[in-house]
Amino acid sequence: MPGLTAPSNYAEEPPRHPALKINSKEPFNAEPHRSALVSSYITPVDFFYKRNHGPIPKVEDLSRYSVSITGLVNKPIQLSMADIWALPKYNVTATLQCAGNRRTAMSKVRKVRGVGWDISALGNATWGGAKLCDVLELVGIPKLSSVTSLGGKHVEFVSVDKCKEEKGGPYTASIPLKQAADPDADVLLAYEMNGEILNRDHGYPLRVVVPGVIGARSVKWLDSINIIEEECQGFFTQKDYKMFPPSVDWDNINWSTRRPQMDFPVQSAICTLEDVDVIKEGRARIAGYALSGGGRGIERVDISVDGGKTWVEAHRYQKDNMPYVSDGPQSDKWAWVLFEATLDIPANAEIVAKAVDSAANVQPDNVEDIWNLRGILNTSWHRIKIQNSACVGRSMM
Ligand code: MTE
Repeated sequence: MPGLTAPSNYAEEPPRHPALKINSKEPFNAEPHRSALVSSYITPVDFFYKRNHGPIPKVEDLSRYSVSITGLVNKPIQLSMADIWALPKYNVTATLQCAGNRRTAMSKVRKVRGVGWDISALGNATWGGAKLCDVLELVGIPKLSSVTSLGGKHVEFVSVDKCKEEKGGPYTASIPLKQAADPDADVLLAYEMNGEILNRDHGYPLRVVVPGVIGARSVKWLDSINIIEEECQGFFTQKDYKMFPPSVDWDNINWSTRRPQMDFPVQSAICTLEDVDVIKEGRARIAGYALSGGGRGIERVDISVDGGKTWVEAHRYQKDNMPYVSDGPQSDKWAWVLFEATLDIPANAEIVAKAVDSAANVQPDNVEDIWNLRGILNTSWHRIKIQNSACVGRSMM
């Protein structure tokens, strides 16, 4: 791709904030400390998790960069950044979440394959860019189409990065055309993150943002968009990011039996405490995040201090000075909901968070029941064990 190139080694990686916890250096995978997540509704770019499968691409010359839109369309085109900037600009606040979030906790049940993550492989940003449905119209695909006249049913995104899983080939993913061509699905070709030009780690100059869907489909460093008949056949769609039952292991796996994961399920986590923590007995503020996929709101977050025997409802919020209403017109439907509750914490408490979404989906209580060999979507109740709380003092944030 003229303008955007992909290094084959890690000599020219961008600078990163030193506070990030590095889970893998090459490729670079890192998350903020959990307490940073609840410091603000919008996650600062520096503290937004970084999830990569290869070295970070570089823009050599932005004026020579273009993205091609080809495949089962009547008039393939190439769009420069100037062409993309000329389209109507939308700002969409959406939480991006890696399907491997909380994998480390799942691996304690039984070994799983993949980069280990604590609870911070997600962040909430305001993405600025053009809507994919507007771009598709330029190649003759009307809004709300689910199939093109040439039989295209999926929209594939191809990057330029060199991923070892693809034997040095680029990262790819696809979404159904029905979602891509739907203006209400808010799928963006984003060039801004939190009002700033996208940085290299997050996909400069152009990335896809598919709200409500696992982060794996939001392809960074976009090179081409292909309209295809079947879903993308790449590694990350067909041989990764699929949810298998606990009975499937590496010796009996048949990848083709499962669909690629798209929407993420309802989940929540407590960010103001470590998984095993020591706090003073008495009142403490418990805060964290909750989110659900597919644009479903958070109907409730329940907190227990006795391991799930009794529950109280936490306060939910998104933006300042605006009460959060699940699926309400003022709420950001693609964004996480923060929660807080100030509770009496008994000695040796087990503090648990559990969210319910607007379709009444509830988190599973045990990680054992949802164990899967790739360690994805650990959305089980987040449990915090408090030790020696009567004897040690520590102020809560
Ligand atoms: N796009 C490319 N080209 N290469 C990648 O490695 N990682 C995917 C997705 N898009 C990836 C990619 C995964 S698994 C996730 S979770 C998100 O990007 C992470 O986006 P972020 O690093 O901006 O947080």
